[in-house]
Amino acid sequence: MISFNSQAKYDKEISVILLSADQTHAQFRNKLDKGEIYPVQERGRTLLFVGLGESDKLTLTDLRIQVRKAFLSSYVQKSKSVEIIPHSIEDASIIAIIEGVAIGTYVWDKYKSKDKNDKTVKDKDISIVAETKKLYTDTVKICQGVSLTRDLVNDNADTITSEYLEKTVKDLIKSNKNISLEILNRKELKAKGLYFHLAVNQASNKEPKLIIVRYEGGKKTEGYTAIIGKGLTFDTGGLNLKPSNSIETMKIDMAGAAAVCGLLKNVLSLSIKKNLLFVLGIAENSIGSAAYKPGDVLVGYAGKSVEIGNTDAEGRLVLADAFAYVVKNYKPAKMIDLATLTGACVVALGFDYTGLFSYNDELAQALLKSAAQTDDRTWALPIYSELKEYIKSPIADLKNTSSIKGGGASTAAEFLHQFTGGTTWAHLDIAGSSYTEGSGRMYYGHGATGAGVRLLTHYLLNN
Ligand code: BES
Ligand code: ZN
Ligand code: ZN
Repeated sequence: MISFNSQAKYDKEISVILLSADQTHAQFRNKLDKGEIYPVQERGRTLLFVGLGESDKLTLTDLRIQVRKAFLSSYVQKSKSVEIIPHSIEDASIIAIIEGVAIGTYVWDKYKSKDKNDKTVKDKDISIVAETKKLYTDTVKICQGVSLTRDLVNDNADTITSEYLEKTVKDLIKSNKNISLEILNRKELKAKGLYFHLAVNQASNKEPKLIIVRYEGGKKTEGYTAIIGKGLTFDTGGLNLKPSNSIETMKIDMAGAAAVCGLLKNVLSLSIKKNLLFVLGIAENSIGSAAYKPGDVLVGYAGKSVEIGNTDAEGRLVLADAFAYVVKNYKPAKMIDLATLTGACVVALGFDYTGLFSYNDELAQALLKSAAQTDDRTWALPIYSELKEYIKSPIADLKNTSSIKGGGASTAAEFLHQFTGGTTWAHLDIAGSSYTEGSGRMYYGHGATGAGVRLLTHYLLNN
């Protein structure tokens, strides 16, 4: 629990005191380098001084990293109550501190045995010395959406099934007015002709699902913005089976749909005044004799035929049907999708940046601005009409793989573009940014990062 207090009280077990190089404190006259932490015991309490370095060199990312580091120290870990005394009263700094705590200390330990001697206190009473502002209490809520997304991505593929995601959505929207729900299961997908989606799920014993939440928080005259997430609960690659070292992390292939869940949670907790569609295209790309085959030609909901060049390029098929269905039946004014779509995006940008693709400059700029403001890092990559040449097939309208080497994130984006029906659209490729391995990166620990949730919450609040 995080709350705000306008004045320092020194009444918690520990006070975390952030000091930039030009600041001192009555109980501490030494200089700390950036990243140095120094505890002072005082009448059974601890004052933990945290060095931030020169304030003009301190980025907001750095600040989140330093706060995280202090909170992961044993001093804070074993405290039940913590007071944070910021070095600055600027909104951006307070927000970064909140995120350093709420995002930085997230750990996925559901399946880890707990050590008997472990003194870690999980649920802390944290108070930040700052005015109580809506901006700050909103930040706390937004981080809860990020955590939901991370939990969904981190848990086992056989736990976070389409049924589980359906229940998650239903639990979120329970007892909310202005909301309606449409769910297409195997039967409905078949009856309506979403054959790409069905083909991808064909070898799985789990139910494919297209979930659409309609949220009417805006004016009657305002068009809908659709947020669409790729929800491959596991991606084996299909008959074009992924090799070892690529397959192990593929439970994360639903990170787009998980981000849609986190965003839905935030939209509801912040009562965002917009008309929105939350769409989850959920399937499992399995292998077996029932699996869809390389070389097959399929016709999806839009009526276009696609030659299957590779069964591992399945995300674009599920999204193509979701796009076409939403465009035809809901006519959104705008669409933004989130998808762990291509390894090529990871090659291009690495793990710290989401790839952004859009033909609409205004939408792209607005998203990049929200990305910069939230530190939910995003970088624009090219999309242009000539890419269409590379996804042509001699035997079908399109092919789900590219005829050229290189630029695979852009050709995948162009494939999606073919199913937008001219709707204003942006695509976020979160293949690299949604997950981190090893000891983590920036202020994220090992596992899911919740990429896209802060970015899109900010976008919806401000556009
Ligand atoms: N889910 C993968 C993309 C991915 C790769 C996500 C690495 C996260 C980390 C996607 O379905 C896929 O396999 N794409 C192929 C497409 C190729 C066969 C044209 C890829 O990127 O290799
Ligand atoms: Zn794949
Ligand atoms: Zn995939």
